[in-house]
Amino acid sequence: MSVTYQAVGWNRTKKIYDGILAAGLAAYLGLFVGVGSLVHPNATAETLLIRGLGTAALLLLHVILCIGPLCRLDRRFLPLLYNRRHLGVTMFILALAHGTFSIIQFHALGNLNPLVSLFVSNTRYGSLADFPFQSLGFIALLILFLMAATSHDFWLHNLTAPVWKRLHMFVYVAYAFLIAHVTLGALQSETSPLLAAMLGIGLTVVTSLHLTAANIERKKDAYVAACTIDDIPEKRACVVSCGGERVAIFKYDGKISAISNVCQHQNGPLGEGRIIDGCVTCPWHGYQYLPDTGASPPPFTEKVATYRTRIDGNQVLIDPKPLPPGTRVQPSVIQDAQPV
Ligand code: HEM
Ligand code: FES
Repeated sequence: MSVTYQAVGWNRTKKIYDGILAAGLAAYLGLFVGVGSLVHPNATAETLLIRGLGTAALLLLHVILCIGPLCRLDRRFLPLLYNRRHLGVTMFILALAHGTFSIIQFHALGNLNPLVSLFVSNTRYGSLADFPFQSLGFIALLILFLMAATSHDFWLHNLTAPVWKRLHMFVYVAYAFLIAHVTLGALQSETSPLLAAMLGIGLTVVTSLHLTAANIERKKDAYVAACTIDDIPEKRACVVSCGGERVAIFKYDGKISAISNVCQHQNGPLGEGRIIDGCVTCPWHGYQYLPDTGASPPPFTEKVATYRTRIDGNQVLIDPKPLPPGTRVQPSVIQDAQPV
């Protein structure tokens, strides 16, 4: 069997997406160099271009990092995800141009090989103000190169999706290096607070979007529909398979609790038992467990895993992640139910 490259399907939507991207970047660079030459009349065109390319790459990286969590928060952002890999490659090309021009400007005129000069011309790693920040940019650029080079579907298919995804998580490492590159570099000499403010805002937006999306997803995804309230007879259970384990969901006194279906004595099916005297009672030999804690009433010490539950209308939802045996879980209350 052989693996071959497949041509990228360049459809109309992709062309529009890329057209907007190219026009936006050209406008940004034009404005940056134009306004920059008015504000800093002494700055050379090369310096302004280096700065424009660097800031454009970093800005685009922020957009790329925000697209994932935005799509998880609101599906209307999904069209942005559609062509995110083109954004990534474009960002790498901008960063490469910025790095190359910087190396030419700052390291090409000496006797040393410019790449060697990049690492040996400044070795004050102990100094915050004079830190060799360019080497941090170089490491970030190497990581971005790895991402851009493996962005094609060929690599996605051949590395397999989980490996590819793990590899592309390194973009966050590159981001950390870039924050350090700018903080220890341009911000040490920059008199205008604008760059510092933009960097702070960017970092805050990226971090808070990721935290919000992760938090919402954790809550949303944790619970799965297990059965309806009507499926469960009073003081008995409905047994469901959840996360590879069998779980007994009990209904009693207007409440719902879920525990492992497996009795600690001889693995008897707790979900086939009943609640007697407030305890789930194993149908095989009568071992008992409190439905909200999964623990046997004193003096007994057996414990089974418990599960978080939630009620949505008539639906009983369950978090498939078992809690450590004996962990108390607040029972879900059935609205309008009369305690029996
Ligand atoms: C070989 C790799 C790199 C080298 C040698 C390098 C070099 C430099 C230098 C010399 C500066 C200061 C420019 C000045 O203040 O005039 C700078 C600033 C900057 N770099 Fe890099 N860089 C590299 C990689 C990167 C990458 C990969 C990115 C982003 C994706 C990046 C983003 C920036 C930004 C945003 C600034 C601040 C621009 C400003 O002063 O307004 N750099 N870099
Ligand atoms: S298996 Fe449950 S009591 Fe024996």
